[in-house]
Amino acid sequence: MGVHPIVNCCDVDGLEAVSKRSGIPLLFDTVESNYETYRGYRVGRFGRAECFSLHASKLLNGFEGGYLTTNDDELAQRVSYMRGFGFKGQDTVIDFGNNAKLNEVHASMALAALDDLPDQVRRNKSRYRCYQRLLADVPELRLIEFDEHEETSFKNIVVELCDLWPINRAATLRLLNSEGVLARAYYAPALHQKKTSYETRFDELPLTEELAERFLNLPCGEHVSLNDIESIVLLLKFIRDHANEIGSRI
Ligand SMILES: Cc1ncc(COP(=O)(O)O)c(C=O)c1O
Repeated sequence: MGVHPIVNCCDVDGLEAVSKRSGIPLLFDTVESNYETYRGYRVGRFGRAECFSLHASKLLNGFEGGYLTTNDDELAQRVSYMRGFGFKGQDTVIDFGNNAKLNEVHASMALAALDDLPDQVRRNKSRYRCYQRLLADVPELRLIEFDEHEETSFKNIVVELCDLWPINRAATLRLLNSEGVLARAYYAPALHQKKTSYETRFDELPLTEELAERFLNLPCGEHVSLNDIESIVLLLKFIRDHANEIGSRI
């Protein structure tokens, strides 16, 4: 399973080479890379199949739900049976199944969002440009830039807290959240550090653990205005410039 990161695509060619060499089938979780191209080709065509989300926080909002894309006719047929209880025809169960149908209300919302997609990307781009311009004055935070050689959604705004950023990620998040800025630490703690009811195979993944502490998702999406972005960056500068006083009080 190749998982595309929140900004830009993963190494599709590299993973395809491993898959070919080893004979292990390759799937992609393309939830966060919807709309993007990889080497000029739109996502949705790679690996044996790719999965996407229609959750309200995603580029294509259908309230909830998701979909798969595949060029494999046999797989397409099989998952389409599985979506509807494993039924073939009216009452012959031929496979494992679930009630995974996309209902009409969700589908209508997704279709409306699809019509709006190019405009949404244009609005995302203006928010991204605003962050890019204002964060240039905060070199202690590195904005993860979209690869503009490809088509991209400009949706997610992720910054890395560089070594010169004066307080840790948890405290930064707490401050932002308590001032009403809904920043998030996505994918943290790292998956292997989450409590599970079953045993996990990894004790320590030091690089993963370090990376999981360094990034922050800043607010993005339709409800974030350019004025909001100005306030967010002002607040980040305030935190940077008063880190000592803040540190001593928290
Ligand atoms: C990379 C990735 N995969 C899968 C999901 C889950 O999608 P859903 O909420 O539609 O199950 C998310 C949700 O944030 C995600 O970021």
